[in-house]
Parts: sequence; C-alpha cells; structure tokens
Amino acid sequence: MSVLPVRLVGADQAVPCVDGSERPYLSLDAAASTSALPAVVERVNEFLPWYSSVHRGAGYKSQISTAAYEDARTAALDFAGRSDRDDVAIICRNTTEAINHLAYRMRLGPDSTVVMTVAEHHANLLPWTRLDVSRRYVECGASGTFSVDDVVEALDSGPVPTLLAITGATNVTGWIPPIDEIVEAAHARGVEVLVDAAQLAPHRPLPATADYMAWSGHKMYAPYGAGVLIGPRAAFVDGDPFLAGGGAVDLVDLDEVIWTDPPEREEAGSPNVIGAVALGAAISELRSFGWDAIVAHEQELAERLRSGLAATRGVRLLGPALDVPTLAVAAFEIDDVPHALVAARLSAEFGIGVRHGCFCAHPYLMRLLDLPRNVVDQYREDVRRGDRRRLPGAVRASADLSTTTADIDRLLAAVAIVADGSPAPVTYRQDTATGDYWPEGEAAPWTSGNRSLGASCSRG
Ligand code: ALA
Repeated sequence: MSVLPVRLVGADQAVPCVDGSERPYLSLDAAASTSALPAVVERVNEFLPWYSSVHRGAGYKSQISTAAYEDARTAALDFAGRSDRDDVAIICRNTTEAINHLAYRMRLGPDSTVVMTVAEHHANLLPWTRLDVSRRYVECGASGTFSVDDVVEALDSGPVPTLLAITGATNVTGWIPPIDEIVEAAHARGVEVLVDAAQLAPHRPLPATADYMAWSGHKMYAPYGAGVLIGPRAAFVDGDPFLAGGGAVDLVDLDEVIWTDPPEREEAGSPNVIGAVALGAAISELRSFGWDAIVAHEQELAERLRSGLAATRGVRLLGPALDVPTLAVAAFEIDDVPHALVAARLSAEFGIGVRHGCFCAHPYLMRLLDLPRNVVDQYREDVRRGDRRRLPGAVRASADLSTTTADIDRLLAAVAIVADGSPAPVTYRQDTATGDYWPEGEAAPWTSGNRSLGASCSRG
C-alpha cells in the first residue's frame, strides 16, 4: 500500500471563516510553497543542538555542521543525477537566486544569445532579459504548450545561442515540456541548457542531461530558505563569483584577491546550514517514498482536479487538453467572477488557500488568457497609477503529497458554489492598490484592522 498521501506539518490547522466557524485549512497552493514534511522538521530539530559555523570552525560542532552541510550538497547532486559528473551544487536561497547567480556567472555579452520560452516564470526571464544579450523566445500555442520542433525553430532562427533557459514544468498550468528531447536537440546544436526545476523537482525526476538546474527547498517540503544551483564545476572555476566575501577566497590583500575553488567560491558569507540540512532531509524522504508512488499519487490528483474543474459549469480550465499529463496544478477562470474574488471567497467562506493573478508569469498568462492588446495596454496603465483592480489573471489550485482526493472534491464543491451565480453570503470589497477582495463586516479575523498586510497576489 502506498505511503501517500502524507500528513505535512500544520495539517488540518483550523482557520476562521466568515460564517463564524472554523474549518480545517486546505492548502492548494503547493506550486507557491509547501508545508514541511515531518521528517524534515525532525531532522532539523535533531541537528540544531549540533549547529555551528560551517567551513570556518575548529570545534567539534563545526565539524559536525560542515559534514551535515556537505552531505546535503552531495544529496542534491545525487538527486539531480550528477554523482558521476564533475559538477557542483551551489547552495543558495532559492531558484530565483540560483538563476540570477548563473546569469551573472555566465558573463554573457552582446554577442551572446539566450533562448527562453514564453512559459517561463519571471525567475527564468528577468535575470536574462536585463542582460545586454540577444534574446529569442519559443512561442506557445493557445493551450500553453510547445513542441520540440518549436524549440528547435527558436534555436535555429538566428546565431547559435549560448544558452536555452527553459522550465521543467510550468507553475501555471503544470504542463511538463518534453525536456529530455529538448535538451538533446539543444546539445546537438552545441547549446547549453538551464532547466528551471522549481516546479519539477518535488514532483518528477530531474533531467540529468541538462547542463544547469535550479530548484528551491520551500517548494519541496523544506521551507528553511535553501535552494540549489547545479552546474559543471568548470563553469565556476574562473572569474569573480556572484557574491564576494568571506569563505569564497584563499588569499586577500587590499589590492588582490585569490578566489578559492568552487563550490565554496560561489558561497560567500556564512551558509544556510539549517536550510541545507532540511533540503537534504526532504530529498531523502522523497527518495523513500519513491518516484513511482509520487507520480501515481499526483497523477490521480491531477486528473481529478482538472477534469472536475473542466466539468464544472461556468469554469474555464486554462492550459493543455485533459488527455495531456500535467502536474497536479490547474489554472482556471470562472465566468463573470473576477479571479481575485474567487480566491477570496474560497479562503473566507471555505478555508481553502489558492493563488490568483498571473503567478509571476505575465507573458504566459497574457497568452493563455488570449488578451487583446488594448486590454493589456489598459491594465498596464492602471498598474502604473497604482490601481490593480483590473489586472487580468486566473485562479490556481496546486496539490502536493498531502493532498487527498477528498481535498480535491472539497475544492470542486466550493468552486461549483462560487460559479453557480448565487449571491455570496457576505459582501466583498476590492482594494484598489492590491486588487484583492475582502469580506465586509467586522467578524474577526476579517476586520479591517487585521488587513494591514493584504494578500497582494497581483504582485508577480
Ligand atoms: N513561483 C511561485 C508561484 O508560482 C511563487 O506561486
């Protein structure tokens, strides 16, 4: 019998709803962040009494801490299928930092070309778009997918690119590009490949042939602030590192520095050993579940979620057709109900946490929503004036290893109520600055006094 679903830390935490009752919280926002696996917390707690400085201390605890940190690095390399290559795992904060790190390190100039896809998360767009390089993009079709041929066309339609920067699975639709074939096609042209594995890593085996990979602990049940960049050691041997400081050097004089070897060269400052230990524990736990069990569990959820939404009157599912396998992620719209209002109602009336907006993937959403240029221009103008009420977007539900089929049914029942057109039990007002909706009334904790932070899903 499968060990899945598992209970995550904080499972069934009761949250207040506008009818005055409390409901067990249902997190369907795993694509943003997951709760911790109990084994991760246990490992961190077990390690904490041994916590000390890493790579800098002569004491016994420093030795234990350094070994634990290096074990996590080895686990990350192994998880990425890199044990037999001369690669390094650079421990950083998250995928965004990892890709910024690589973008700095590759030292691309005006003669370089980077190919990206329009389905990228901003983390795999903005570090490249702010460089003085040439760029080309793989376009997607109406269902948000592209083929290997589409990628090949982008690779071949100009000077040979230095890098293809591509998602391993989209955070919006959960679609998984045929990454192995894409890497093969890129390599046949002498193009290196970075896979943004933020969504892929917790859900599917990583593509071991990619040159670079980046992912985050907080999306794989290890929310302690560590992520990883994997790449060939040779790529980090020369030149100055992304971060300059202690731990990254062999010798320093006031006018000279001799940087040390990678990976330490790339990790200036005291490293996040707790984050690394947590990441290592998450990897070990995922391995103990096994990919077969993880994939089977998530496929069942994905099918139930996507087919259930598609069958709900008034709901439009974005992304690939139902017969295309995806992660257990679904982006959808409800006729005549703004995405921000759907998300607010799911939270305030049903205790269900989802995300809404453009999911840090504005170009992809614009395509999935098929927005005419004048609408895009209009909301862009609004946002410049600080008004996010008309920001287009969708609602996203995303599941994890703790999600049950009953959880999916709970969401589907709630979505059906929101979509059926009958009035909400309370009035909701939209906040101009964030675009988010809040229930009116003073029932704690939905009082205006409790809203200082806002939700700000609109930020991308
Ligand atoms: N990348 C995260 C998301 O998709 C934040 O929500």
